[in-house]
Amino acid sequence: MTNNPKRYTVTAALPYANGPVHIGHLAGVYLPADIYVRYLRLQNRDVKFICGSDEHGVPITIRAKKEGITPQQAVDKYHELIKQSFADFNISFDIYDRTSSKIHAETAAGFFKKLYEDGKFIEQTTQQYYDEKAQQFLADRYIVGTCPKCGNENAYGDQCEACGTSLNATDLINPKSTLSGAVPVMRETKHWYLPLNEYEPWLREWIVEGHKGDWKPNVYGQCKSWIDQGLQPRAVTRDLDWGVPVPVEGAEGKVLYVWFDAPIGYISATKALTDDWEKYWKDKDSKLVHFIGKDNIVFHCIIFPSMLKAHGDYILPDNVPANEFLNLEGDKISTSRNWAVWLHEYLQDFKGKGDVLRYVLAANAPETKDNDFTWKDYQARNNNELLAILGNFINRAVVLTQKYYEGAVPSRGELTDYDKTVLEDLQGMPMVISTYIERYRFRDALAELMNLARLGNKYLADTEPWKLIKTDAERVKTIMNIALQISGSLAILMEPFLPDSAAKLRNMLSMESATWAEAGAADLLPAGHVIGKPELLFEKVEDAAVEAQVQKLLDTKKANEAANAVVEPAKENITFEDFTKMDIRIGTIIEAEKVAKTKKLLKLKIDTGIDQRTVVSGIAEFFNPEEIIGQQVSILVNLAPRDIKGITSQGMILMAENADGSLAFVQPNKAIKNGGTVS
Ligand code: 2FM
Ligand code: ZN
Repeated sequence: MTNNPKRYTVTAALPYANGPVHIGHLAGVYLPADIYVRYLRLQNRDVKFICGSDEHGVPITIRAKKEGITPQQAVDKYHELIKQSFADFNISFDIYDRTSSKIHAETAAGFFKKLYEDGKFIEQTTQQYYDEKAQQFLADRYIVGTCPKCGNENAYGDQCEACGTSLNATDLINPKSTLSGAVPVMRETKHWYLPLNEYEPWLREWIVEGHKGDWKPNVYGQCKSWIDQGLQPRAVTRDLDWGVPVPVEGAEGKVLYVWFDAPIGYISATKALTDDWEKYWKDKDSKLVHFIGKDNIVFHCIIFPSMLKAHGDYILPDNVPANEFLNLEGDKISTSRNWAVWLHEYLQDFKGKGDVLRYVLAANAPETKDNDFTWKDYQARNNNELLAILGNFINRAVVLTQKYYEGAVPSRGELTDYDKTVLEDLQGMPMVISTYIERYRFRDALAELMNLARLGNKYLADTEPWKLIKTDAERVKTIMNIALQISGSLAILMEPFLPDSAAKLRNMLSMESATWAEAGAADLLPAGHVIGKPELLFEKVEDAAVEAQVQKLLDTKKANEAANAVVEPAKENITFEDFTKMDIRIGTIIEAEKVAKTKKLLKLKIDTGIDQRTVVSGIAEFFNPEEIIGQQVSILVNLAPRDIKGITSQGMILMAENADGSLAFVQPNKAIKNGGTVS
């Protein structure tokens, strides 16, 4: 494909509508896709940016079951949430559709039917696990059993999450259906398979030979290794009651495999967007680019292209710039462990700071290897880069122009060598940045953008117009003119990365809409053009804000540990006589105070019904002395008195310990007269 296609069809992986989206999604797929598309639009290229929710498959039915709702209710809920998050982060899809739409069902069924009628599938009858109680075949995720590798008793039919081994359902020892708990039986079922093995020579030629050095090494490497290992026929139908029904006779109760229907979702969404959809999918002069995460590579590079090839009418992807994964504070992002920064929550905590997250994620994108997001880095990049470099430069340029010239761009006088070099660097910048973007190297592109802001900052710091104004006002006009040209170019070049801030800056500079081709020009803002008032582009992120986020994660970690904590095994048996030796009574706390110079101890006075006595208890971290006065507790009254920090403690309060180490009183569930026995 030349670098000058007639049009672009850019897709971003359809996220499963089974939960909200997090920073990993944004960094891996949607942000790079959005940067690319915004750049193309600034170039006045014809581009359609396609996405939507993936609403079929087992991930959806599992989530619905977990929440006690129907799959339709689940996708309705998450589709809206996801769509809103993308809109809030200015991901500028031309359409955000959904695969539960009618148009999609027709398109996917039509695609299947064509392949079926053209004899592109093979039919195979195999034995699969069936749940007789629930009366349905079981997807791998619906079967649990003991992992043959590590002995984990809760391994899934496709993978053991304890040891990471990928499994077949038939590998599991003592398999059990998660739907009914029944032991599944083997039953015959017929399915349709795409014989990927037949596409192997073509895939080898198209990818291994055709895209060497052109596709990213991580993508190319994964494809090559799949092809080298030998491809097998792949089932494209499933026994499930949620999905697009298989549109042929003898397929009652079967649906299309979600990975068959989802990528067709790109086509149906384009259909929903424009009557002209065929141009974007069938004309060889259209460039198709799929943005995805690394777990989707095989589907977009091998299976979907084989489907398109089998169909015959469609173009193939020109590139599939898949990213690696983003981790969070050194740990894998995980929905089930709630280890994530959720996009909708971020915007609640950092109102109006969508661009800051876009910046941090683009600057640290996992383009060539897995990367880590940390709140410290977030703060540093905001304060030391966005604020100190870009924001500071723009602020100086605009404030000084207002101050010296009431906002009118001054004209340039004679240029020094330094001025000339700066203008040359400025002129070259759009090309440098676009070359990186066209090669899907968004981090490098963003680094160059920041270099332009650095250049502006340095130029002002070196020339010091605020000092020079007293001695050489003419020279200051030239300096400020150049600073404003840099500012104007920044407003254009930063738009793909920081759309909100770019709009603010264009407004500040009173710039009408501008194109990429205009950036870098020495007279982008002509002399006499009047700019607007200064506004701050970025704000400092304070320590407290990021500390609160770190604390939120620590709380999550603690909650996870508590949820996974093992219950202590029972102690050795004792006799009934042993037990009756303990005299446990109900008493009431009548006084409570902290023991001086200790962190954990409270001195309590308890009315035991027998007497009023002092007990020292190690519970100060969990209770406020004032709040526990009047509460009833259980107290072991015949424990031999002990001296604790110089206080004689007469007895012991019974406490229950939670998995996270927190403590609670063991209390009667209705008021008991003090002195009542516990047995
Ligand atoms: O991995 C996922 O989240 C899938 N829902 C991606 C589908 S991409 C495309 F094929 F639709
Ligand atoms: Zn295992």
